Amino acid sequence: MAIELVSNHEFALPEKNAFGNSFRDYKADDDRKDILEQHYKSSHINQTYGFLRKNIRSWTRLIWECCELLNEVVDDSDPDLDEPQIQHLLQSAEAIRKDYPNEDWLHLTALIHDLGKVLVLPQFGGLPQWAVVGDTFPVGRAFDESNVHHKENPDFNNPKYNTKNGIYSEGCELDNVLMSWGHDDYKHMVAKENGTTLPSAGLFIIRYHSFYTLHKYGAYFQFMNEEDKENMKWLKVFNKYDLYSKSKVLVDVEEVKPYYESLIAKYFPAKLKW
Ligand SMILES: [Fe+2]
Ligand SMILES: [Fe+2]
Repeated sequence: MAIELVSNHEFALPEKNAFGNSFRDYKADDDRKDILEQHYKSSHINQTYGFLRKNIRSWTRLIWECCELLNEVVDDSDPDLDEPQIQHLLQSAEAIRKDYPNEDWLHLTALIHDLGKVLVLPQFGGLPQWAVVGDTFPVGRAFDESNVHHKENPDFNNPKYNTKNGIYSEGCELDNVLMSWGHDDYKHMVAKENGTTLPSAGLFIIRYHSFYTLHKYGAYFQFMNEEDKENMKWLKVFNKYDLYSKSKVLVDVEEVKPYYESLIAKYFPAKLKW
């Protein structure tokens, strides 16, 4: 059946839905009537202030549970850490919190920056370590000399991918550069897909904290746009704490937990999809 245009310039508005009823007609007499009725009844009866106050807390706890789950992950690429991973998350977050008390987004960024490492666990896909941890690097253009083993990568000999800019253009924005897969990109996607309200500097830190050729050796700068350059300042701040806060002095997990749970609730409005 042809759908008539309301005007030449606007979205064509059909008058009937797929069931032949008016849109948003909850009283239409069809097979879905009972389901709709039950759904809205349950929703409106149960979505009370108390229900939400009680459960938002436990939904956001999923992030915290992942912090604890991370204790099962041994990072083969990290020469500096033999404490449980949750200590690394908390040590870096607490050290930043001490020096930048007003930047609560940065405290939370530090807490979650390595959570993507759950990818090595069977329940998250059981990826091999090489696809989860270690330095990340862009593909699609010539490898920087500082990338170890780059000559053994098949792309090294592919003329499409081995010129200075490769498939990219200068100033194209780092988000448009395809990075090797790892916990960084995964966590960045999870945060974005779930509508986090973390500022772009937080997302930048999560995505590029293992991109050492960029933030340590200054390679690939030509792909950055102005926002990337601004965010880079924060990544350099963060990197110091990521590297140097690893310590034998353990953080009291239970003591700091309420603070970080409050940040999770603030910056992650809903239950996370992983
Ligand atoms: Fe990391
Ligand atoms: Fe880290």
